[in-house]
Amino acid sequence: MSKKDMILRTPLLVRFCHVFIVILFIITALSGLSLFFPSIKAFGLVLGTPQLVRELHPFLGGIVFILLMFMLVRLAHHNIPNWDDIRWMKHIKSIISGKEPEDIPIGKYNAGQKVLFWCIMSLITVLMVTGLIMWRRYFAEYFSIEIIRIAIFFHSLAAIGLILLIIGHAYMAFWVKGSIKGMINGHVSRAWARKNHSKWYHDEMKKIYIAEQEAENKSNQKENNSHKKLA
Ligand code: HEM
Repeated sequence: MSKKDMILRTPLLVRFCHVFIVILFIITALSGLSLFFPSIKAFGLVLGTPQLVRELHPFLGGIVFILLMFMLVRLAHHNIPNWDDIRWMKHIKSIISGKEPEDIPIGKYNAGQKVLFWCIMSLITVLMVTGLIMWRRYFAEYFSIEIIRIAIFFHSLAAIGLILLIIGHAYMAFWVKGSIKGMINGHVSRAWARKNHSKWYHDEMKKIYIAEQEAENKSNQKENNSHKKLA
């Protein structure tokens, strides 16, 4: 497919960020699970020894948090809910069975992706705050045992929630053909964009049309100026 038929879906910096998040999240999740459930302490082997798990898990979690905050800044404006999202939600059953109604305009992300986005951001914030409270090496001494116990409870709850959400997120990414490609090489076909994100597609086409018009006007002006000079 020629480059002209493609639209930029995910800029390079966001793609890089997402790759690092995927790798670090898997390592952080496996090492965290090994700390909580002794029966699967073998998961901790991703970081070597149990001592390394204890040392590195909080730092890796912190890096995942920072990277996700970058995603939040870059993508929040595409994930603001609107009335069309409620209409989309009402049709969720037919959407899941593959009969997506064509009259609902969908922006860069659909309502399901928006819910997931805000859940990811909320859960990582809970994990960060509770993680800091329980971090024995630096902060735990400033909090009472009761507060630390509450933090541990919410940290584990948020971790399980986020892991399940990410499994769902990865499944959806494989389910919607073409979206992984959009995250790896950044571009999607116009047909994909029109089918899955009709409003975003029209907005992008408008931008491309305006840019082309401006470029044409500029080159016409240049041509006129050179004609004037010759005359
Ligand atoms: C194997 C694992 C993963 C796969 C296959 C995957 C795939 C994708 C794809 C294809 C998109 C772009 C969707 C689109 O353009 O419509 C995306 C977006 C995103 N992913 Fe992942 N991802 C994975 C793991 C993760 C993890 C671990 C996190 C965070 C903890 C994450 C957070 C996000 C966020 C925040 C977005 C932006 C969605 C939005 O703005 O609504 N992903 N992912």
